[in-house]
Amino acid sequence: MYRRPFLFQGEDRHMSETVVKAEGVWKVFGDQADAAIKAIRDEGIGKPEVLERFGCVVGVQDATFEVSRGEIFCIMGLSGSGKSTLVRHVNRLIEPTSGSIELLGRDVSSLNQSALRELRANHIGMVFQHMALMPHRSVRDNVGYPLEIRGVAKSKRWAVSDHALELVDLIGYEDRLPKELSGGMQQRVGIARALARFRHSIR
Ligand SMILES: Nc1ncnc2c1ncn2[C@@H]1O[C@H](COP(=O)(O)OP(=O)(O)O)[C@@H](O)[C@H]1O
Ligand SMILES: [Mg+2]
Repeated sequence: MYRRPFLFQGEDRHMSETVVKAEGVWKVFGDQADAAIKAIRDEGIGKPEVLERFGCVVGVQDATFEVSRGEIFCIMGLSGSGKSTLVRHVNRLIEPTSGSIELLGRDVSSLNQSALRELRANHIGMVFQHMALMPHRSVRDNVGYPLEIRGVAKSKRWAVSDHALELVDLIGYEDRLPKELSGGMQQRVGIARALARFRHSIR
């Protein structure tokens, strides 16, 4: 049976500013998405029937949530329930079929290319399930790569990278290649890479 993901809200959410706000977000993949949404709403049909009747796949069904600054917010659910699809809306890797997403008070669908680039570079760190680390670059140069693209000088890059690696407990592995690390350690390199580009921006 299809189940939607669970959204776990942190306890301290009312203590600070809202940074992510999603309202009534739907993502239905396929040409007849609008008709499919209507049938889900009016007739309450499920994901298998949507596929059968409309040839559409339900990715996200009517998700509404807010995340506060500093809050740890968790989306959990079965494989295929729509977690990744939902998360990709926050930095507009995916556009919703219906509904809206605000980041720092701005509707992400209204941003032009340069505003979107600025947002992705400076306000969001995304860690992918498969880290896509570059195999011939050291751990440190993987972590510093987003800064390199932005033209940050090497000494600064290395300082930020090493600090990020400290946060994920990988001191001593800076000069290693990804393949010399365990799967979990490689994931931490990916986390450090996301932190490094973010840390640079908030300095
Ligand atoms: N680009 C796509 N085109 C068509 N269907 C997709 C696409 N991406 C995801 N889906 C479908 O959306 C549903 C949710 O997928 P996903 O968000 O990746 O699940 P999860 O991350 O919870 O495992 C799945 O049924 C999947 O087949
Ligand atoms: Mg996923």
